[in-house]
Order: sequence, then C-alpha cells, then structure tokens
Amino acid sequence: MTDQEFLRIYRFLKGKYGIDMERKKEIVQGRLENYIHAHGFENYSEYMNAVETDITGRLEKDMVNILSTNHTFFMREFEHFDYLRQVVLPWLKTKEEQKKDLCIWCGAASTGQEPYTLAMLLKDFFGLEHNQWDTKVLATDIATDAIRTAVEGIYHKEQIESLPEHWKRRYFKSIGDGEHYQVTKELKDEVIFRQFNLMDPFPFKRKMHIVFLRNVMIYFDKETKRELIQKVYDAMEPGGYLFTGRTETIDRGSTPFTLIQPSIFRK
Ligand SMILES: C[S@@+](CC[C@H](N)C(=O)[O-])C[C@H]1O[C@@H](n2cnc3c(N)ncnc32)[C@H](O)[C@@H]1O
Repeated sequence: MTDQEFLRIYRFLKGKYGIDMERKKEIVQGRLENYIHAHGFENYSEYMNAVETDITGRLEKDMVNILSTNHTFFMREFEHFDYLRQVVLPWLKTKEEQKKDLCIWCGAASTGQEPYTLAMLLKDFFGLEHNQWDTKVLATDIATDAIRTAVEGIYHKEQIESLPEHWKRRYFKSIGDGEHYQVTKELKDEVIFRQFNLMDPFPFKRKMHIVFLRNVMIYFDKETKRELIQKVYDAMEPGGYLFTGRTETIDRGSTPFTLIQPSIFRK
C-alpha cells in the first residue's frame, strides 16, 4: 500500500464515518490485504475506485466491517450498570411513572453484549412491574456484520461466563453443541437493532433518557467528538444521562453536559 493509497482510504473512512486511522497504515493494510486478493483487485487504488463507484454499497459495507474495531464484552465497565441501578433508574421510575416509557439508546452496540446487558439489568430493576413499562433499548452500529451477530445472539460459553447465574439461566439457552448459547426471545424482544452512522443527522423523534456511547469516540478526532456530543445533548431529555467509555477523554470545555463522574454526564 503506497502512502497515497493509504491517504485515500484514511480520508474516505474519516470523512464518512469519523474513524481516524491516522498512523495506522499497518493495521489498515493488514486487515484489507486478504480481501483485496480474494476479490481480485490489482492494488488499493483499483479497490478504492471500485468502492467509490459501487452503487450497491456492498464494497463500502465490507470495508466498514473489516476496518471497524468491534471488541466488546458482557458486563463491560460494570460500574456504569451499578450507577444506573442505584441512581438513574430510581430517578426515572419516579419521573416517568405516568407514561412508563423510557428512551434508551446504545449508539455503538457492536455485537450486542452491551445492549443485552442493559436489557437484563432493566428487567431485573423493574421486576414484576416490567411488563407495565416500555424499556426497549435501541441499539445501533455502523458495522452490519456486528449487528447480524447481535441479532442472532449466539455467544460462546466463555463470552457469557461473567454473567450472574440467574441471568444465564433465564436469558440464554444452549444451542445444543455444548459450546454456544443463544439469547432467548424474551430478551431479544427488549432490544431493537439498527444500522446507524453516528456522523449522520439523528433521526430520533423522541428525546433520550439514557445514552450509552462507550468506547467509540476513541476513534474520532477532537472536532468530530465535539460535534457528536452536541448532537447527543440535543437529542436528550433534560436530566438525561450519557455514559462514555471510562478510558475515553472528553474535553470538559467541549461538552455542554455536566460531568457527574469521569465517563458519566448529565444534561
Ligand atoms: C470497540 S466497539 C465498542 C462497543 C461497546 N460500546 C463497548 O463499549 O463495548 C466500537 C464500535 O463502534 C462502532 N462505530 C465506529 N464508528 C461508528 C460510527 N461512525 N457510527 C456508528 N458506530 C460506529 C464500531 O463499528 C464498533 O462496533
């Protein structure tokens, strides 16, 4: 891959998806190499010509699937879920007592572990009253492969190891090979998966009470982050909570939110 070719791919990804792969030429090349060969492209310029003229969008979708980093796991940064249980949900339960309708969005849901963890927590929190409430989680991501995995909801037994026993028993069933478990319909019904690019204008008709945007802004530059945080702020209910990744840095000056704790923000 020449520097020129890398620059073209870098600009394309950053321009359309905000993903900043500067100084990651080796990674980009390493991830794309097999694909280029398997699809018979002579070089990366020929490949990019094809990506940019493919009206089906298939090549671009594949590119995003290959170049996005979808690492995630159940119970990740569990302190956030504890905070939800102890602070946010008791507040919302009182505040929304009449409508019994919560708007919860997980904006970089990857392969589903994060929104499913949220959905299990919500089920636990509302207990017997859960069926009177609408607490469905909207889960979006740009990577279609990741979303497909999430919708299928099949995980290796090691991936669900960290979950409490009662969640495993209630929300996962063995698919019979002794190695994998599938999320039950009861839990799947609590999560709506869609493809959505965070760089696009937000189409939401209703304001969000809770937004999870964790471990995705690390791929965006400062200005992209600032614009995105402003869009999230505008899409939220007053008093709503935004959770970001605990290792992500968000410039205090660039956010209209009130910082509650590192990685927990409130409108
Ligand atoms: C490292 S995963 C984080 C998953 C999960 N939030 C967590 O914390 O475990 C980052 C996800 O962000 C998604 N992503 C990256 N850029 C995006 C964009 N512009 N719009 C929507 N999702 C994006 C990737 O596809 C990937 O699945």
